Amino acid sequence: MTASPLAELARLLPSLQLRTEPADLEHYGRDWTRRWTPAPLAIALPGSIDEVQAIVRWANAHRVALVPSGGRTGLSGGAVAAKGELVVSTERMNRVVGFDAADRILTVQPGIALEAVHNAAREHGLVYPVDFAARGSCAIGGTIATNAGGIRVIRYGNTRSWIAGLKLVTGTGELLDLNRGLVKNSSGYDLRQLVIGAEGTLGIVVEAMLQLTDAPPPSNVMLLALPSFDALMQVFEVLRGKLALSAFEFFTDRALVHVVAHGAQKPFAEDHPYYVVAEFDAHTQGTQDAVLAAFETCVERGLVGDGVIAQSEAQAAALWRLREGITESLARHRPYKNDIAVRIGAMPAFLDETKALLAREYPQFDVVWFGHIGDGNLHINVLKPDALDDAAFVTQCEQVTALLADALQRHGGSISAEHGIGLVKKSYLGSTRSAAEIAMMRGVRQVFDPNGIMNPGKLFD
Ligand code: MLT
Ligand code: ZN
Repeated sequence: MTASPLAELARLLPSLQLRTEPADLEHYGRDWTRRWTPAPLAIALPGSIDEVQAIVRWANAHRVALVPSGGRTGLSGGAVAAKGELVVSTERMNRVVGFDAADRILTVQPGIALEAVHNAAREHGLVYPVDFAARGSCAIGGTIATNAGGIRVIRYGNTRSWIAGLKLVTGTGELLDLNRGLVKNSSGYDLRQLVIGAEGTLGIVVEAMLQLTDAPPPSNVMLLALPSFDALMQVFEVLRGKLALSAFEFFTDRALVHVVAHGAQKPFAEDHPYYVVAEFDAHTQGTQDAVLAAFETCVERGLVGDGVIAQSEAQAAALWRLREGITESLARHRPYKNDIAVRIGAMPAFLDETKALLAREYPQFDVVWFGHIGDGNLHINVLKPDALDDAAFVTQCEQVTALLADALQRHGGSISAEHGIGLVKKSYLGSTRSAAEIAMMRGVRQVFDPNGIMNPGKLFD
């Protein structure tokens, strides 16, 4: 790539912020995977939809690959720019555009952080219910690109359920205004839903209409220690039968070791193999009685090794920290992340089988299991042993993922529940999608982006 197409872009859009300083290339070329060496051509920071369209048209003329970029908190390499691409950062397009009270729709630009959306919703007495630990740094555009899930999917579903409309600049530079906030719209293909989860391969989301909803009633949080995974699944049955659950998250003893080493308070004197953080509505005396009754049922059936119900907001936050602090506590061990989904009914068999397999075949690895067990979503993080060099670690982890992909095929699961395929899981897409499905996806992509300039190399080649 010569400098001249970039010079032409600067000439075409004199007000466009373009950055080529090495520190910027490094910063914007990476995401949280930190596995690829950043090597973008430059960074563009458009301030308007018109500028995004002009960039895409320029990129088509010069066949320059574009990488849409939000908070880069992704865990699958979907926002990595390592091959001379132009990064299109939505960082400057980070405003609330408007609020419609009748429809309870908050319209936002793509670069706004999830936490800022939560705050804006709260100002209107409502909530945007998608939530996860990276809320302060991720951008809403990225959550749409991956159809992000998080900790409240069990009650609210994932991002897909909350996008009432989208504006998309396609790979040809055309602006599509999809669904426009309609609740009902039975007028053909729902292209909005096609864009959600497409990992930036169909275009760049330049505006989103977020459906808000009522704030939930006051909640409470419970931490349970469980003797086995079987007991954990039985506890899930009891709790969801008796309580209005808004989260049911799990982690193993290894996860607890890391999060405690990172500063969290050890919750119980004894060690236990599994733990669950459950959140539930607790706004009336009746619901509080139901909580105690559910807890007692679990104890009577011998399902619970230990347990605590938060007595204050501070204690509830401390219990949540045990689950939400896991990712950060593992970061210094350079984890290789797996993010799988199976149907809830298939989870015990999948977990037993793969846990035993990994312990037998890869005893050298500290494997940390945690995740959104109420949605059938397990995060399986393999930590890098100090003695192993990076390349050997990645090679071995890819073998681990191949084993998981094999098991997923047998159990009818998915190689990505909520992180996306990106670069990291590209070679395993075939374990989750049939050849015919992948061929159709390629066809769709061809329609939106005939010159293949939108995030090439991500999802599939
Ligand atoms: C989480 O749920 O904490 C993240 O999605 C998982 C991860 O860091 O692997
Ligand atoms: Zn997660």
